[in-house]
Amino acid sequence: MELRPFGRTGIKVSELCLGTMTFGNEADEATSKAMVDRFLDAGGNFVDTADVYSAGISEEITGRALKGRRDDVILATKVRFRMGPGPNDIGLSRKHIQLGIEASLRRLGTDYVDLYQVHCWDPRTPLEESLATLNDLVREGKVRYIGCSNFAAWQLAKALGISALKDWEPFVSLQPEYSLITRDIERELLPLCIDAGLAVLPWSPLAGGILSGKYQKDAPLERGTRGGDTENEITFTYRLDDRAWKVVEAVVDVAQKAGKTPAQVALNWVLTRPGITSPIIGARNLEQLDANIGATGWELDPELGKSLTWASAFRKGYPYEFIEYADA
Ligand SMILES: NC(=O)c1ccc[n+]([C@@H]2O[C@H](COP(=O)([O-])OP(=O)(O)OC[C@H]3O[C@@H](n4cnc5c(N)ncnc54)[C@H](OP(=O)(O)O)[C@@H]3O)[C@@H](O)[C@H]2O)c1
Repeated sequence: MELRPFGRTGIKVSELCLGTMTFGNEADEATSKAMVDRFLDAGGNFVDTADVYSAGISEEITGRALKGRRDDVILATKVRFRMGPGPNDIGLSRKHIQLGIEASLRRLGTDYVDLYQVHCWDPRTPLEESLATLNDLVREGKVRYIGCSNFAAWQLAKALGISALKDWEPFVSLQPEYSLITRDIERELLPLCIDAGLAVLPWSPLAGGILSGKYQKDAPLERGTRGGDTENEITFTYRLDDRAWKVVEAVVDVAQKAGKTPAQVALNWVLTRPGITSPIIGARNLEQLDANIGATGWELDPELGKSLTWASAFRKGYPYEFIEYADA
């Protein structure tokens, strides 16, 4: 795996980031540890977790898996979602962030995280309160950089403006959903990140597994997969509209022509898009991880790449289309 600059910071990260959302859930501790080892052996140095994954167990497993190699890794975690029953066990208040980082450091078995990300916009807390608290965490050495996830472009632009005005540490990265199926960030968020020099870390680059080509239109979603698991059906099937099935068809076709798997082709497309730093890959076992690491180290024929971009084209709407055609 190649290394890439992490936005405008002084660090470099591998072109794939290892996601740990399956740790302590689909993947038991032994499998999770084996995946961390395999990923680092393949040249990866970037691992993403969150307090909320498997209710803290993902952080614990990740921490144990990195023992002895902690400083070689860029370790990212997140805060924002509910971690307890109380009214203040959620959100981006000073209280929840300060308790959140202490709990994450404890579970990860480390005294700092490289990238501390707010997991989603919090409409109830003033942005200044969250940003001031995050700035303090950097000053205290508990956190090296701060980033955000699941923000709208105006929210991110506002946050960057406040940080600049107050001379606080700015968000240096965005973690958005991005794949051949979900390209919405191309309207505003991606151009903003390119303009402001933020690293972009796409989550669900396979749309949760759909782009592996293993699901068939008009057939029940196979059990033992994220799509087939009853509890995930609602959050998963929203992605499966007619356009998505056409994209899957195109990916399967291009994969055959390129001599790669559909998942490798879909990941390769994401990791070579302008402005993208490091897609976060997810896997339930070593076989999937190996296959996904195989998305790196080769170039897709540009014509095949273009055919994927066309097959997944979407209406950007107003004012984006108006602006694009203004000088045509
Ligand atoms: N910030 C956020 O809000 C947010 C949200 C989601 C995820 N994330 C981060 O992004 C990471 C990746 O997200 P994701 O897991 O949704 O990514 P994804 O790559 O879109 O989906 C991964 C899932 O697809 C299936 N899969 C992976 N490789 C495969 C292969 N080669 N063949 C067949 N199936 C394959 C597996 O599920 P099955 O085997 O169960 O089918 C796997 O768990 C997470 O670990 C987490 O770190 C962040």
